[in-house]
Amino acid sequence: MLIKEAVFLSSNTQLAACPPPTRPEYAFIGRSNVGKSSLLNMLTGRAGLAKTSSTPGKTQVINHFLINDEWYLVDLPGYGYARVSKSARADFGKMISAYLTRRENLTCVAVLLDSRHSPQAVDLAFMERLGQDGVPFVMIFTKADKQAHGRTHELVASYLRTMSETWDELPRHFVTSAETGLGREPVLDFIAEVNRQVATGTAGT
Ligand code: GTP
Ligand code: MG
Repeated sequence: MLIKEAVFLSSNTQLAACPPPTRPEYAFIGRSNVGKSSLLNMLTGRAGLAKTSSTPGKTQVINHFLINDEWYLVDLPGYGYARVSKSARADFGKMISAYLTRRENLTCVAVLLDSRHSPQAVDLAFMERLGQDGVPFVMIFTKADKQAHGRTHELVASYLRTMSETWDELPRHFVTSAETGLGREPVLDFIAEVNRQVATGTAGT
């Protein structure tokens, strides 16, 4: 998919204030610092479109971007960020849950996972919950440039083995690097394919 246009629309804490739910929407979620905002910039080819930081907790609101005047890309706050107060953490939880369960045009969630780490309980629990809530999702492994290709391959394979202990059918997965652009075409092609299914009314079949 060619990215002709990528524009920032709005930042919100309330679902009701989000842009009208008239287009297919893809949301990036995952632990703080996993690379959600960086991936958004890499996919759109617009460095600096979403704000990134080496300090966890940079993104704290629901950010909507409009791509090619056709679909929305959403940058969400990270979960499992410990340096905010307990009540603020609960609020993130509530905001993200409300968004995930009630955003009617939410087409697919991308759960971002650091490709250097073995499966973490918080991520597995989060994906379990998406499954229970019936929210379609894919897994995107990030920061693949930080280690040798073979190591990434091993860790991803072992991650998928862990997932297959609880999931009958594994979600699709992608391996990416915001640094090198690895995985850009596969992720954008996947989104283009789902957009076509939404347009022809065959999504989810
Ligand atoms: P929060 O908004 O705090 O939840 O974080 P985030 O998930 O949006 O992460 P962000 O994109 O801000 O990236 C966190 C840090 O990881 C930054 O220092 C990025 O430069 C770095 N980073 C992100 N993706 C990659 C990658 O693919 N490769 C490398 N080497 N660094 C990356
Ligand atoms: Mg961010």
